Amino acid sequence: MVVLITENIEEGSRTAARLVGQAVNNNPALRLGLAAGNTPTGLYRNLVDLHRSERLDFSRVEIFSLDEFLGLATNSANSYHTFYHQHLLNHVNIDPTHLHLLNGQTDKDIASYCSYYEQLIRDNGGIDLQILGIGRNGHLGFNEPGSSLNSRTRISLLSASTRRGMARLFTQAHVPEWAVTMGLGTILEARVLLLLAFGKQKAAAVAKAVEGPLCASIPASSIQLHPTSILVLDHEAASSLRNQEYYRHEASQLEALLPDWLRGEKSSSVADSPSTGNCPF
Ligand code: GLP
Repeated sequence: MVVLITENIEEGSRTAARLVGQAVNNNPALRLGLAAGNTPTGLYRNLVDLHRSERLDFSRVEIFSLDEFLGLATNSANSYHTFYHQHLLNHVNIDPTHLHLLNGQTDKDIASYCSYYEQLIRDNGGIDLQILGIGRNGHLGFNEPGSSLNSRTRISLLSASTRRGMARLFTQAHVPEWAVTMGLGTILEARVLLLLAFGKQKAAAVAKAVEGPLCASIPASSIQLHPTSILVLDHEAASSLRNQEYYRHEASQLEALLPDWLRGEKSSSVADSPSTGNCPF
């Protein structure tokens, strides 16, 4: 686990965008898992800027999504489908046939739909880079406390705390009670996890996820099982971590800790690229 402690949301968002940009540059057919919520909006804004100013090319990138509200039409103002389009997809050169966003209003029965989504991820060769936020109660995606560390894509009953946190977004309607989410086991199969957290209100959840015991009651602690997770925090979200000094020391050696295909300079060999099946770790 690499913990990058940045000054503020702006620096954190730029840092995360630089990493995603490097991954796309090194592997133009990157399979990228998106996350919704307030936290990654600055990351998406910076990716749009990189697309405009440095021609970051999304034309071969394949897009997956972490979670979605159940029962919301894709074009609903509050769906994550709409969120991804508003914040990123409408502003970069994504091929619409490369969009594999979870659909909260599937006409399949939901269990078959979830198995289909798992198969879709597998058929595409797995997710290379999964963006994540974290809930105040330690949730990851819509994996609420108590979710199995081995869980797969499935429906999830939202907790009162999660629904309260979302209430501001649903001014015209009630926050849905149910969502569909990648499971923790699904998330852990992505080759790299990029988890963002900003603000004091995330500090306790971040500390439990990073330095607390691995347990289903803090779903985000499951990232401790992942061989290559990168956390981008601002100093407020990092404020309850005990090992800050070490994380800052490690961050000074970041390039050496990243897999080849995430580094700043182009990978020397295309065979290093994860999409060729030759995973570097
Ligand atoms: C929702 C999403 C999560 C997200 C979390 C945090 O529950 N399903 O994927 O990480 O909210 O949201 P925010 O970034 O707005 O704090």
